[in-house]
Amino acid sequence: MIKLEPDAQEFHQAPRGNRSPATCHWKCGDACAQPVPNPSDNAYVRDVIEEALTRRSFLAASAAGLFVLSGFSALARAQASGNIGFKAIGLSTEDRLLLAQGYSANVVIRWGDPIARGARRFDLANWSARDQEAAFGYNCDYISYLPLPYGSANQNRALLWANHEYTNPELMFPGYSAGKPTKEQVDVELAAHGGSVVEVVRAADGSVEYLPVSQFNRRITALTPMELTGPAAGHPWLQTKADPTGRRVLGMLNNCAGGTTPWGTVLSAEENFNQYFAGNDGVSNETLKKIHARYGLPAKESGRRWEAFYDRFDLTKEPNEPFRHGWIVEIDPYDPTFTPKKRTALGRFKHEGAEISLAADGRVVAYMGDDERFEYMYKFVSKGRFNPADRKANLDLLDEGTLYVARLNPDGTGEWLPLVFGNGPLTAANGFASQAEVLINTRGAADLLGATKMDRPEDLERNPVTGLVYAVMTNNSRRTAAQVDRANPRPDNKDGHILEIMEEGNDAGATRFRWTLFLVCGDPKDPSTFFAGFDKTKVSPVATPDNITFDRAGNMWIATDGMDGSNLKSNDGIFAVPTQGPERGYVRQFMSAPRGAEVCGPIFTADGRTLFAGIQHPGEGGTLEKPLSLWPDGVGTARPSVVAIRKDDGGVIGT
Ligand code: FEO
Ligand code: CA
Ligand code: CA
Repeated sequence: MIKLEPDAQEFHQAPRGNRSPATCHWKCGDACAQPVPNPSDNAYVRDVIEEALTRRSFLAASAAGLFVLSGFSALARAQASGNIGFKAIGLSTEDRLLLAQGYSANVVIRWGDPIARGARRFDLANWSARDQEAAFGYNCDYISYLPLPYGSANQNRALLWANHEYTNPELMFPGYSAGKPTKEQVDVELAAHGGSVVEVVRAADGSVEYLPVSQFNRRITALTPMELTGPAAGHPWLQTKADPTGRRVLGMLNNCAGGTTPWGTVLSAEENFNQYFAGNDGVSNETLKKIHARYGLPAKESGRRWEAFYDRFDLTKEPNEPFRHGWIVEIDPYDPTFTPKKRTALGRFKHEGAEISLAADGRVVAYMGDDERFEYMYKFVSKGRFNPADRKANLDLLDEGTLYVARLNPDGTGEWLPLVFGNGPLTAANGFASQAEVLINTRGAADLLGATKMDRPEDLERNPVTGLVYAVMTNNSRRTAAQVDRANPRPDNKDGHILEIMEEGNDAGATRFRWTLFLVCGDPKDPSTFFAGFDKTKVSPVATPDNITFDRAGNMWIATDGMDGSNLKSNDGIFAVPTQGPERGYVRQFMSAPRGAEVCGPIFTADGRTLFAGIQHPGEGGTLEKPLSLWPDGVGTARPSVVAIRKDDGGVIGT
């Protein structure tokens, strides 16, 4: 039985919408129960909307009273998506993975499955850190599928990458006592974080299996040596007793979504890293303390209590260690000896992902969300250009370039504002002595530039068919009626929404864009919802969108996180929606996950015949003794897993 200490009981009573308290505690360190860490007085778009409304005649108010532009007329010329061929399923609260008729799924790999020669079989009652280091980690999130050999188009043999975002110790350890973990338990947790590379094969029927032994199989954990690279590497704020160089760091924390580069590396995004650290009240340097507070670092003890065993998580002993987390990490899955690199040029915040596109001139663009209420949307544009003929020349492209943050104007225009030392207010007089400091304190720099506060930006991803960028806001129940604006149009936004962005000239390298609302999620009967103007009597209810991907026709596939806490109060799932053509906005539910799980990392194989998804934290909200889910095996405990979904007739998914 999970035992809650008094303070833990307290957090279970703190306001958090309707989500499972366990989700809030372990996933994001009770972010909802904490004060919003963005105290900047950046104008909410609302502040200027009245003026804009009187000035601009092209703003169209939807029937719902939301301010919605009619979409980008230029896109009428773009290739039409649509022709989705499956019949929608309904919302579910069953402890089963449900799929549209005509589709099947198999579990590719689950938490604890061995991935190294001689690794022990998973044993819930007797599981050590050593066992965990040789096995698939916990809470799989971002997924990448990289053909073998490198550079081939082979879709039947590949490397599968999965992030391991966080751990649910109450579902991992019999007798776990919240607030009083043992060192052995903490060591298993450290080893269950990070990511995995496993070799997989796809069979003739479309099912996918992993190879327990392969030269490529690898675990990366919260202890794996990594390199800090780019403009902030070596800065005094990155130096610790264990690493006086400020260039070597152990492990990555809370890696949520990510991206895959055209040169076959994976980008893994450190998200809610703040929750692993303790004791900001005891930091004597006021500058550091203020930056840590801006990133939501705990004033006193952490929820996980790792600081009881490791000084690096105790700010009173190592006040700089958090500066070494919150980065985008680049990993080469084709090279099992590769030292992962934290790319400081891409900024430091609660990175959701880093989806890659190319500018018209070949520069590499990473779109990124800072997933917290009232945080910002970013993109990075490399200085150098992608060279398809020379993989090695691309490997350090992400060390030099410009980081931008988004400002959205109420007239449907927007700008990418460069986070460059010396530009505008980013000077020593305002606390920024160098580009390194701009990058380490990205949030503080973005505050000064007047970026737009959003409703928890998750995936930002470019539709490879149309070039439009979609920005997913998962929810924000803290937004008040006074803070509503055109880009975040709902108070108490429990259901989330998705923006559509067109870069100027449809060029990912542009610094200006136009934007509109694509979906305002929820129950279609709720008048505040909007489905790109599509007939609301036909669409599937959808809420809390998190990660998206696109099929070969340019349809968007949405994975959700937290529908149990939304107004829909159901399990999470996968939903498909055309972005163009007559069915633009016609959301259809494709899959429903087992109880307590979110769905992560949806990604198609290049041939569109397999869809991978991460079933993360099944059973969250229950305990080992009183399980909410026993998916996928029906015994012991629920186990986070990667699934491979296929069409029974072997065809392209969605057709
Ligand atoms: Fe880990 Fe923003 O989801
Ligand atoms: Ca996510
Ligand atoms: Ca994505």
